[in-house]
Amino acid sequence: MSFGSPRRHYRRTDSTNERARELAEAGAPSGAVVTAAEQSSGRGRQSRAWSAPAGKALLYSAILSPLEERHGLLPLAVPLAVCEAVESLAPVSCRVKWPNDVWIEEEKVAGVLIEARPPRWAVIGIGLNVAIEPEEFPAELRWPATSVGRGVSVPAALAVLNVRLGEAVGLAADRVLEEYGKRDALRDLQIAWEGGPKGSESGRGRADGIDEAGNLVVETEGGRRLALGAGEVHLTLD
Ligand code: BTN
Repeated sequence: MSFGSPRRHYRRTDSTNERARELAEAGAPSGAVVTAAEQSSGRGRQSRAWSAPAGKALLYSAILSPLEERHGLLPLAVPLAVCEAVESLAPVSCRVKWPNDVWIEEEKVAGVLIEARPPRWAVIGIGLNVAIEPEEFPAELRWPATSVGRGVSVPAALAVLNVRLGEAVGLAADRVLEEYGKRDALRDLQIAWEGGPKGSESGRGRADGIDEAGNLVVETEGGRRLALGAGEVHLTLD
């Protein structure tokens, strides 16, 4: 499949994910995309805000409908598409910080927020920093941030992301896991977490890849292996 048609573009809206949710609820077709030059209430994961200076980031929400069982690893497939899109635009290498932040080196270039009403639809929200200057990022960011830069334009990023996302949502689960494994930025790093499973609500350990359900596998200092789900857990690098 491919994304980008139909497309609705706003000069300014509260959140493209919100606009796309409305369209999805109203029966918009799979592949439809909402973009904006600027958001007044851009949403990030875990109830955080997402902001970007007008016209300098790709603010993108795509509708996938219906949501099928084969889309179970969508949260991992989407950042892979972003990595491939960015790498086709600029001579950089991207990796994924589980579950779905995209990094160039150790700096975040894109974030993904998927909101879904299974089995009817998923809204795939992507914020990709395209031409934001270092001094334009807010000081209080959790992770250092970067942009694609190198003269790349937002329309060029949109065109290539539409294609790569279309390919990624069709990938079989084993391919998603294989490709993700090659781009896993946390592998072997010492991490700390909060909001983990009962009995291991917080802890520290070594990131040891991703399991078949898309959970982050960690080995604790005591040698226990745990699977952390993306929904609740808050990670920090130790
Ligand atoms: C994150 O890193 O926490 C996810 C950020 C996702 C931001 C994008 S920008 C386009 C779309 N609309 C939103 O309100 N959020 C997503």
